[in-house]
Amino acid sequence: MKEHWDEIYEALDADELTWYEEIPEASIKLLSKCHITKDESILDVGAGASTFVDYLINQGFSNIIATDISKIALDKLKIRLGKEKTSQVRWIVDDITRPVHILNLRDIAVWHDRQYYIFY
Ligand SMILES: C[S@@+](CC[C@H](N)C(=O)[O-])C[C@H]1O[C@@H](n2cnc3c(N)ncnc32)[C@H](O)[C@@H]1O
Repeated sequence: MKEHWDEIYEALDADELTWYEEIPEASIKLLSKCHITKDESILDVGAGASTFVDYLINQGFSNIIATDISKIALDKLKIRLGKEKTSQVRWIVDDITRPVHILNLRDIAVWHDRQYYIFY
């Protein structure tokens, strides 16, 4: 699966992906229903190069964890964010079906997972 996703992210820019959203409205709406504080942790599983991470940073959330099976996807997101915003996020390359690093995480307030499940 890793090779599959790496190939996609290597071949296409983030805004060329079929699932690209300029504004992740559904995710934003769902998050607003969680009523968490800005310092509680949000885990984005299969974050890819998603604009949801940009949104969270811009809203002042300070405990964001972006994970994906594809390092290439996360690297693309880091490039878009730039150095300063990249440093505000914790990055984890992990396979959610065989998690290693994610298992060490504690006190996750919100688990965000958009569309990952439909592929399995
Ligand atoms: C349809 S994309 C959605 C990306 C992003 N959440 C968004 O909304 O733009 C699915 C994402 O899940 C990641 N993914 C697929 N299988 C995975 C796995 N087993 N573990 C972690 N991430 C995975 C892919 O690399 C890809 O970035």
